[in-house]
Amino acid sequence: MAKKPNNQGLPWKRVWVTGAGRGIGAALTRLFCEEGITVYASSRTEQDMDALQQQLSQYPGKMIPVHLDICNKENINSLIKNWQKEKSFPELVVLNAGTHDPFPAQEFSAERCEKLFEINLLGTIKCLEPVLKHYVAHNSGHIAVMASVAGYRGLPTAAAYGASKAALIHLCEALKLDLTGSRVKLQVINPGFVRTPLTDKNTFAMPDLIEPEDAAMAIVQGLQSEHFEIAFPRRLVTTLKLLRLLPYNLYFRIVKRITG
Ligand SMILES: NC(=O)c1ccc[n+]([C@@H]2O[C@H](COP(=O)([O-])OP(=O)(O)OC[C@H]3O[C@@H](n4cnc5c(N)ncnc54)[C@H](OP(=O)(O)O)[C@@H]3O)[C@@H](O)[C@H]2O)c1
Repeated sequence: MAKKPNNQGLPWKRVWVTGAGRGIGAALTRLFCEEGITVYASSRTEQDMDALQQQLSQYPGKMIPVHLDICNKENINSLIKNWQKEKSFPELVVLNAGTHDPFPAQEFSAERCEKLFEINLLGTIKCLEPVLKHYVAHNSGHIAVMASVAGYRGLPTAAAYGASKAALIHLCEALKLDLTGSRVKLQVINPGFVRTPLTDKNTFAMPDLIEPEDAAMAIVQGLQSEHFEIAFPRRLVTTLKLLRLLPYNLYFRIVKRITG
């Protein structure tokens, strides 16, 4: 998989990672702390944050736990205001927090869709707004939004999850165009399957499954590149991108055959 970042020093002093309590966010926080970076690591479950902080206590970087629900606009805005007041605004923000709730058409539920959109899409947008405003005003800053390869095209049992991630990809594409010529860098992250509590609930065999540490390394490498999209692992991404080119009848037939 991805190599450890070729680290002549990563270019950020302070980073904000949402959804840092476990999974990909925790692995990213660990990697940043290994590299001496100060990480504002946020999530809702305080025990997760405390456990991670303990693990990272001897690392060269500092993890600052932030108890935050990304759906709570007031709390987000007071966090932002505090950084502005203290002149400690992070130079990089990774909007990673998200959730998954797989269900088939036979169990389709507006309430479950709403919950997923509330976190994955609207929660991310609520964090994005004040960060983008600050970065645009300073003509500097770096934002990475966690979407998924599940946002490329419809996949079984992932109508709501896939739609939330497709919306994030679309949102970032549009913002990227608006930001042309500015020094605000925006990237979208589209991982394949990563072994975390989120995918532990999947009952099917996940092709090209990778560990969160490998995902974190691929993300940090991608963040240092000028590519808009950070997508991995390569084989799965290439296959899904090829499937994206197919007409619907062929696409549905192949995906149904693969996923059963
Ligand atoms: N694992 C994969 O295969 C995979 C693939 C593609 C994309 N992704 C995306 O990568 C991101 C991380 O996934 P993961 O697999 O690491 O999931 P995970 O292990 O379930 O971790 C998700 C993190 O997000 C936090 N979170 C969830 N809802 C939140 C909210 N409302 N406010 C604040 N924090 C919240 C969780 O903590 P609390 O619940 O304590 O708040 C947790 O720390 C998600 O956006 C996911 O969609 C994952």
